[in-house]
Amino acid sequence: MKGLIFLLLLSFIWIGSIICSAWRPPAVPQEMPAFAGSEACKSCHRDIFNDTRHTAHYLSSALPDDAHIKGSFAAGKNEFVYNQWMVLVLEKKKDLFLQTAYMNGIPTEQRAFGLVIGSGRKGQTYLYWDKNNLYQLPVSYYAPANDWCNSPGYPLNYIRFYRPIPATCLECHASYAAAQVKKDGSTSFNKKSILYGIDCERCHGPAAAHVAFHTQHPDEKAANSIISTKQLSRQQRLDACALCHSGLRKQLQPAFSFTVGQRLDDFSVPNYDVDTAGGLDVHGNQYGLLTASKCFKMSAQLDCSSCHNVHINERHDMATFSQRCLNCHATHDTCTVKASAGVMLKDNCIDCHMPQLPSKKITLKLASATAVTPDLVRTHRVGIYP
Ligand code: HEC
Ligand code: HEC
Ligand code: HEC
Ligand code: HEC
Ligand code: HEC
Ligand code: HEC
Ligand code: HEC
Repeated sequence: MKGLIFLLLLSFIWIGSIICSAWRPPAVPQEMPAFAGSEACKSCHRDIFNDTRHTAHYLSSALPDDAHIKGSFAAGKNEFVYNQWMVLVLEKKKDLFLQTAYMNGIPTEQRAFGLVIGSGRKGQTYLYWDKNNLYQLPVSYYAPANDWCNSPGYPLNYIRFYRPIPATCLECHASYAAAQVKKDGSTSFNKKSILYGIDCERCHGPAAAHVAFHTQHPDEKAANSIISTKQLSRQQRLDACALCHSGLRKQLQPAFSFTVGQRLDDFSVPNYDVDTAGGLDVHGNQYGLLTASKCFKMSAQLDCSSCHNVHINERHDMATFSQRCLNCHATHDTCTVKASAGVMLKDNCIDCHMPQLPSKKITLKLASATAVTPDLVRTHRVGIYP
């Protein structure tokens, strides 16, 4: 009898723990992978190392300093006015960059920039630390207008500091961060563990063993202890980018558990309707849109690297991108429209077949404007547009 009760109790605990594990948000305590850091790659991969320093990936997160914060702290440019009672002032004091909320001229809340998210190619958002938790600051930066704007997602009529930052934010914008999801759902970060920027090992996997091997065997010409990008299947290559470029995904596993070569759907699943270009937001879904295009469906090999060399900043180099279209489309005689004067049709396939479309999800209000502006996103649904 005692044995039976014990068994029953055990099975309750067991079922209970299954239910709990199904309900709890994924916890994130992990061992720090064996990273070497990109300085260690420099001696053998010098060109790639130097080129990547200028990419949006590498600059996608950083500690706050003059070089990384794009907005202006100069008098006259350092205010965001919510209404006649509420003003947010951006100030620089010694080493600190601050956002201070004023109500009728009286300061009500002040927080220091702790982390910069975004290279500033389109914009930046800033985070502050409260103990080991991260929160979004109320004011962000919008590059096309070179101006401060409200942080997307915050109300326009009241200054707020309350948006907590989950680990997924850094999963897409940094190389590593150890984090833990607490019982109350909040995420606590280990500040010292953060590797800023999307660096080599975010895409190629931890490479300490590769560095150790090749340092000991300088004459070995074949790559050792590193995932070979050439031997990956098309889906594996796509998954390596889709991790961050298929919109905000539903997490099945803790942030930072996926590494290149694994099946992405085992770690997170898409959360969007592949067929709508209308749902575009700043977080894009290049993967979803590209895979819905004829170029993708009707060719066996097209993937992101058919058009992008991610080691180099090739932004807005339309002639180079168009050359990559011509690798498959030997001619463009099929395009019935005439190019405008002075523009060679072959030098810009992009603006006709992959136009920039206004985001329906992200709209921003600039410090200097009264109306809201939509963010523009380059659609990856390659096709024929009016
Ligand atoms: C002591 C020299 C050395 C160092 C240091 C080194 N590598 Fe390599 N790596 C090589 C050699 C040799 C190859 C094979 C030839 C080639 O592809 O360039 C290689 C190849 C690679 C490849 C291509 C694998 C493939 O087959 O597609 C990647 C990716 C790579 N290394 C990443 C890194 C990263 C990331 C670092 C720094 C963390 C690094 N390497 C540091 C020597 C080195
Ligand atoms: C860890 C997440 C992550 C991974 C993995 C990743 N990206 Fe990105 N990518 C980003 C983020 C974040 C940005 C925006 C960076 C910024 O401007 O702050 C970006 C920007 C870009 C851009 C725009 C660059 C520019 O200068 O305009 C291209 C192109 C791009 N990624 C392609 C790729 C491709 C191709 C792959 C796969 C080989 C890939 N990315 C893998 C997160 C990622
Ligand atoms: C699923 C991955 C993912 C998550 C999660 C994510 N981002 Fe991004 N973010 C991206 C990618 C990819 C881009 C570039 C998109 C493009 O250019 O179309 C981007 C762009 C941005 C930009 C504009 C950067 C620039 O200079 O162009 C900002 C700012 C930004 N994200 C902030 C955040 C913040 C803050 C969070 C967390 C609250 C977050 N993102 C969560 C992937 C992600
Ligand atoms: C955003 C993701 C990403 C980042 C960051 C990145 N790589 Fe790569 N790397 C790739 C992809 C994708 C390929 C395969 C390209 C192809 O097949 O056309 C590649 C190929 C390589 C290769 C083999 C082919 C070649 O060009 O020699 C080496 C070596 C390499 N990367 C080293 C590095 C090093 C070193 C860094 C950092 C300084 C780095 N990569 C940063 C995605 C990345
Ligand atoms: C890896 C090869 C490949 C690359 C690279 C490629 N395409 Fe395609 N594309 C195809 C194939 C295959 C088709 C379907 C057959 C066809 O219409 O020629 C296609 C179809 C198209 C179509 C017709 C779409 C429709 O819905 O009717 C357009 C337009 C197009 N491509 C433009 C481009 C542009 C612009 C680029 C560069 C930004 C590009 N393609 C890059 C292979 C490619
Ligand atoms: C057929 C060619 C082609 C393919 C394939 C392709 N891209 Fe692009 N991508 C472009 C062009 C062209 C641009 C515009 C570049 C610019 O303005 O600097 C672009 C821009 C981007 C941007 C910046 C978006 C923005 O709104 O500014 C990101 C992010 C990106 N690509 C990611 C990817 C990812 C991830 C893949 C694979 C899923 C991919 N691309 C596949 C041609 C391509
Ligand atoms: C000024 C705008 C414009 C430019 C620039 C342009 N195209 Fe087109 N293209 C079109 C239009 C419009 C069509 C549809 C023609 C039709 O169906 O009558 C088209 C059709 C196509 C098709 C589909 C043909 C078919 O029958 O399915 C391909 C492939 C294509 N273009 C590739 C390219 C490539 C590659 C470039 C750059 C070298 C390019 N286009 C530059 C406007 C343009």
